[in-house]
Amino acid sequence: MSQALLTLDFLDKAAPTPEATPSGEVRVSAATRTGRQRKLYIESYGCQMNFSDSEIVSSILFNEGFDTTDDLASADLVLLNTCSIREKAEQTVRMRLSQINSHKKRNPGLLVGVLGCMAERLKSKFLEEEKIVDLVVGPDAYRDLPQLISQVDGGQKGVNVLLSREETYADITPVRLNSNGVSAFISIMRGCDNMCSFCVVPFTRGRERSRDAHSILREAADLVAAGYKEVTLLGQNVDSYKWASADGTEHVNFAQLLEKVALVSPELRVRFSTSHPKDITDEVLHTMARYDNICKFIHLPAQSGNSRVLALMNRTYDRPWYEDRVRAIRRILGEDCAISSDMISGFCTETEEEHQDTLSLMEFVRYDMAYMFFYSERPGTLAARKLTDDIPLEVKKRRLQEIIDLQQLHSGERNQRGVGRVHQVLVENFSKRSKEHLSGRNSQNQVVIFPKQNFKKGDYVNVLVHSASASTMLGEAV
Ligand code: SAH
Ligand code: SF4
Ligand code: F3S
Repeated sequence: MSQALLTLDFLDKAAPTPEATPSGEVRVSAATRTGRQRKLYIESYGCQMNFSDSEIVSSILFNEGFDTTDDLASADLVLLNTCSIREKAEQTVRMRLSQINSHKKRNPGLLVGVLGCMAERLKSKFLEEEKIVDLVVGPDAYRDLPQLISQVDGGQKGVNVLLSREETYADITPVRLNSNGVSAFISIMRGCDNMCSFCVVPFTRGRERSRDAHSILREAADLVAAGYKEVTLLGQNVDSYKWASADGTEHVNFAQLLEKVALVSPELRVRFSTSHPKDITDEVLHTMARYDNICKFIHLPAQSGNSRVLALMNRTYDRPWYEDRVRAIRRILGEDCAISSDMISGFCTETEEEHQDTLSLMEFVRYDMAYMFFYSERPGTLAARKLTDDIPLEVKKRRLQEIIDLQQLHSGERNQRGVGRVHQVLVENFSKRSKEHLSGRNSQNQVVIFPKQNFKKGDYVNVLVHSASASTMLGEAV
């Protein structure tokens, strides 16, 4: 299946807007073309968990007679897998629905469904607010899709937004929709119990639960057998992964799971995301150090560099704790381990001095990369109920710009440090600019581009880097 990772033109991504999200990215289903009767077009917003869920949804519907298509105009069923993390993410989906409305006018038989976090947050209100929507399905209810679709085929609307304490879709083999055939996501847990005060995820995704370790290892082994070279273990908080067998004889924590996945094949790179600073243990860091195929890259969102703000955010760590975790990473894994972060500017009551603390934390860590946002109040969260969203938008945006500018500097510096060195690159694709060049990433997740010669997707290539910008490094195979 070919990769279909599109940037839709309605999502003006060109300028680094003050909300350059990790996933200002939209993913569109690739075409499966197996001659099934009906066509599903699925568009995914938000985080990697959603991209991964869309592969589960496609798998469920594949078995119900749906091929996926990358062409909205030829679809019988359109599903938007939505995100609620910031107001803008929801606005994007509303805009998209109004565009889809014009397709529905031309093709009245078209079914339209909303999945994911926005479906969970708005529930049946969605049906009142957006008349074209036929189906509203929350993240734990995808097994019910076939039944709900037949309900809609029968002329009714279909809604299921029940959250579950058990559902992990462990037995469903995802249809690898967005895959380049090299790198795949494996969801290892669902939900989140952390209740950060700004965050809607615990409400849209429900309670945290860990997936059966055996099913994770089976999926990794199947991917290796199918030629994949990299897996990313996904969860909102992977470090709190915790699974026990029903008879209580087996217990697996995240460090142990990581080791087991690394042992599936030395040829398989292992990545993971996201690490919560309160939970990442030295045991995980030592496991990373022991295995060359565990990538030296940790996404460790700080959110703020000020302890008072962190307490208001209910992050349950303070700045000294965060700094200690960074020192542990440097001690155990050395300077070569990349660290990235998420930062929020202008959280409730944040002062200028406290904002300066975020900048000084960034100076302390010198992140390799960061996703940066201004605070967006989400209905129903602790912050919305208990705190005042009192920082004016211009101030939030100005602070955010300062954070982005500093990060640009640090990202440029880290890529410059890579110049003159040899990097092991896993080739993922052609370069966006030229078919004569290949693009891949090194262990630290930096993008490296080099002349193709006889190399191909899936190869590990040693590349000597000769120049770099803030976003990519250029080099030649050695
Ligand atoms: N589980 C991950 C985060 C998932 S959400 C973690 O705990 O790190 C991804 C990022 O979106 C968060 O890290 C945060 O920086 C940002 N975010 C979440 N809610 C937000 C809000 N209300 N306003 C602005 N940014 C938000
Ligand atoms: Fe949201 Fe916090 Fe959970 Fe991350 S850890 S998903 S920020 S509640
Ligand atoms: Fe968005 Fe839901 Fe992910 S709110 S960031 S799609 S968990």
